Amino acid sequence: MNKTRKVSFSGIQPSGNITLGNYMGALRNWPSYQDEYDCVYCVVDEHAITVRQDPTALRHHAMELFAQLIATGIDPEKSILFIQSHVPAHAELGWALNCYTMFGELSRMIQFKEKSASHADNVNAGLFTYPTLMAADILLYQTDIVPVGEDQRQHVELTRDIAQRFNGIYGDVFTLPEAVIPKVGARVMSLTEPTKKMSKSAENENSYVLVMDSPDAIMRKFKRAVTDSDACVRKSPEKPGVSNLIDIYCAATGESVEEVERRFEGKGYGNFKPAVGEAVVELLRPVREETERLMADKGELERLYRLGAQKASAVAERTLSKVHKKLGFLPR
Ligand code: TYM
Repeated sequence: MNKTRKVSFSGIQPSGNITLGNYMGALRNWPSYQDEYDCVYCVVDEHAITVRQDPTALRHHAMELFAQLIATGIDPEKSILFIQSHVPAHAELGWALNCYTMFGELSRMIQFKEKSASHADNVNAGLFTYPTLMAADILLYQTDIVPVGEDQRQHVELTRDIAQRFNGIYGDVFTLPEAVIPKVGARVMSLTEPTKKMSKSAENENSYVLVMDSPDAIMRKFKRAVTDSDACVRKSPEKPGVSNLIDIYCAATGESVEEVERRFEGKGYGNFKPAVGEAVVELLRPVREETERLMADKGELERLYRLGAQKASAVAERTLSKVHKKLGFLPR
């Protein structure tokens, strides 16, 4: 990668099975940049350990997520697809950036506040400095765009601030990245508590749809989704339940809100909820089936993640050694 093209970078945690929210807000947009951008996508296992993980489950989730990224259309030969812990430059730059990030900035991060509330018994330093590692992920590749869901906007803005501060002291070391957030699907809400974000760490499994859920499970979850009392398929801030289902339907089919409201006018939720379920089943079916096929050949997945780590390291090491030189570290 010699920066003849712009760079798209993003990452996702293997902290469990991924949801429809992850898919609509982030993953499915990643392959679309492959023709115009140099793409670098990463399974961020080092971020995942900021909350306790079972080692066997983490290994499985990292491998499955790697396969899922290929199943969504990322070509691991053309793009760079890798596992974060395989490229030590991430942790190394993360350390350096810790020294250029303020305590106050990290204290204002919404994800930190939420996660320290939901894991009150384990508010560790990694949870706090999580965004500086994320900044390292992004800045190592001289990234121009970061395709993410709405909840990551604040982290990308902080990354930009850190990069600007560093460049201000040492000259042009880092490209300033920008978050790219989709128009539909950027914030998929819980099916049982539609004022909260859909999240894989929620306790109630009816609140989220997983990319690997069977069609039956998906249909059941949508039929049970919380809606509102007036049974009218219309988007409104007073009706978070049906508004979320309309957004999901639009994101799955590409239709506009007006088209959907018109088609389901007078039809009630009894018709609408299964229709949303069916649209999501069809959206996720190819990804699930392709992931299952890829997971049958672990040897090939291992070959591909090693290839990814090699390609990623070559780029990341260049930025890291530039940073070390600027900082005044003796050459290795
Ligand atoms: P993570 O693993 O929580 O989520 C991965 C991506 O999914 C998006 N997302 C959603 N989008 C819409 N609706 C939802 N309910 C929903 N839930 C999650 C997230 O916005 C994200 O884009 N910190 C990141 C991982 C990361 C990263 C990076 C991202 C580490 N390094 C560098 C970009 C660049 C995270 O926790 O994502």
